[in-house]
Amino acid sequence: MDSLNIRKIGVAGCGLMGSGIVEVTAAASYEVTVLEANPEILEKGKKMVEGSLAMAIRRGKLSEEDRQTITGRIKYTLQMEDFSDCGLVIEAVTENMELKKQIFAGLDKVCREDAILATNTSCLSVIDIASATGRMDKVLGLHFFNPVPAMKLLEIVKTIATSDETVEMSRAFGQSIGKSVVMAPDIPGFIVNRLLMPFFLEAIRLMESGQASREDIDRAVMLGLNHPMGPLKLADFVGLDTACFISEAMYKEMSDARFAPPILLKKMVTARRYGRKTGRGFYNYS
Ligand code: CAA
Repeated sequence: MDSLNIRKIGVAGCGLMGSGIVEVTAAASYEVTVLEANPEILEKGKKMVEGSLAMAIRRGKLSEEDRQTITGRIKYTLQMEDFSDCGLVIEAVTENMELKKQIFAGLDKVCREDAILATNTSCLSVIDIASATGRMDKVLGLHFFNPVPAMKLLEIVKTIATSDETVEMSRAFGQSIGKSVVMAPDIPGFIVNRLLMPFFLEAIRLMESGQASREDIDRAVMLGLNHPMGPLKLADFVGLDTACFISEAMYKEMSDARFAPPILLKKMVTARRYGRKTGRGFYNYS
């Protein structure tokens, strides 16, 4: 079997990550069905996909003809049953274990017996999510990075129950949408967030201690390590609510103080200073 068995993709959740996944899969010639919880959020998700395609045209990366072809491959729905002919469904809803388990239990009922079910979770246990289904061998993590169309990496998270066939089909799928694939363990944070979170949190603690300014921390990392963004700007980009959630989830799993959210981060989240998405985080975007 190879990824050619997967011609139709389902994407559950069309927020920042889901909409990016929809765009890259449709651009790679897959037929994509997108599920959202209600008409308003579905419309918002559709606008995100269309906005990103419009930006690609403005940047000279996409022709009007290709935009129309890509858009024509995407079907929006409020019914999970519309995933019944998909070979792969990727879940990209809010990071909430109960919600993800509910969705996976539903997918298990409506999807083809041979369909692969993937989660884009950034930190939750993939085997816990898989346990809501009767096909744990066909469940794995496919972790994308933001902005999905620009970031080349795809982490494949194999649980102790995922079959080799599921991994190989998913690897072929990842390559077919132009991503570079790495195998990541089903541990909190996988590879990237396992390394990124202590980096974010240490930058926040350094700023919080008053020993270095946010600008100097970011400039030091950009110019000294050649990163496209410093850690505080990147935390704003990822979303401080998301960063705090990942940090708390990792701390809960590992009881390791390196992953505990600093007080400043928690206060910023309480004040809804989530970063770019709310106009204010470590920097002001208004
Ligand atoms: N959609 C599609 N493409 C985009 C894009 C978007 N939203 N934003 C930028 N790009 C593309 C541009 O088209 C451009 O492509 P080319 O080089 O082929 O022309 C390239 O990215 C650079 O774009 P710009 O010159 O406009 O802007 P930039 O140089 O400031 O780059 C950036 C923007 C790509 C976001 C860059 O700053 C960057 O890579 N930042 C780090 C992003 C990152 O680390 N993301 C991972 C976060 S962690 C995560 O997502 C996982 C998690 O679980 C928390």
